[in-house]
Amino acid sequence: MRVLVADSFDSSGLDALAKAGCTVTYRPQAKDQALVNEVAAAAPDVLIVRSTKVPEAVLAAGPLKLVVRAGAGYNTIDVAAASRLGIYVSNCPGKNSIAVAELAFALIAALDRRIADNVADLRAGVWNKGEYGKARGLFGRTLGLIGLGGIGSAMVPRAQAFGMPVVAWSRSLTDERAAALGITRLGSPTEVAEQADVVSVHLALNGETRGLLGADFFAAMRDGAFFVNTSRGEVIDQPALAAAVRDKGLRAGLDVFADEPSGGQAEFHPAIVDLPGVYGTHHIGASTDQAQQAIADEAVRIVRVFAETGTVPN
Ligand code: MLT
Repeated sequence: MRVLVADSFDSSGLDALAKAGCTVTYRPQAKDQALVNEVAAAAPDVLIVRSTKVPEAVLAAGPLKLVVRAGAGYNTIDVAAASRLGIYVSNCPGKNSIAVAELAFALIAALDRRIADNVADLRAGVWNKGEYGKARGLFGRTLGLIGLGGIGSAMVPRAQAFGMPVVAWSRSLTDERAAALGITRLGSPTEVAEQADVVSVHLALNGETRGLLGADFFAAMRDGAFFVNTSRGEVIDQPALAAAVRDKGLRAGLDVFADEPSGGQAEFHPAIVDLPGVYGTHHIGASTDQAQQAIADEAVRIVRVFAETGTVPN
């Protein structure tokens, strides 16, 4: 198999592909037209990407048979065009759940203690113990989860370890599962907004979830509550969140944004990150060594299964 890896990828995965007999072309910087050119030149059977976007022009540029998304979500790949062209798309679900949950918790704690503002003041030579002596604390505060797949589920024991009761909404959550997890099932995202001190979003992006959390949702949130999104920027109405930050004193931790760049380094400045009370990070939820190693292992497994059977496991 000829495999083009067009994103940063754990070196163990590159070695494993080579050991499996694949001819590997590693082009982590290839984006947009450069990626189209690489696909045309390398004529790969398989394309592996993480954040690199894969539109129809890339899919149609060479003899691709399989695109592997080195992550759980696959909204950055034109799956409809891939289906039309007879190209498989396979993802790596569940491999980075703990890493993303850890970042969500880091953002929650950082918002409570205003860590980024603390750091900035001290760097500017300002000692401000009075200003930063007013955190609310997390113990006893209710965490509301929107979405309870692998990542949402990984949030539950972490919240419980912090002494936070958990309420959750997910389309597929049953009372039995909620009882087994020791959490409370709610009937809608709005109910979560009403009952939680901290809301954390863990939804896949699809036709049902795009724009799901809008002005009504943010209006239902408690004044001064925290909102954390480590899933996809497109599931929220960002201007509506910005208005709620300004009008209701919400604090927000955002790892994801609508129309993010195709990975790597690029100019990108979503207006909301300039608001006081908003901490933005660079879609780094899955960016731990452990998660990227597990993702690379799974991506290699997918390529092997495809080479052996002509079909994909995910
Ligand atoms: C995912 O879809 O699993 C994440 O967005 C991971 C990533 O940052 O690549």
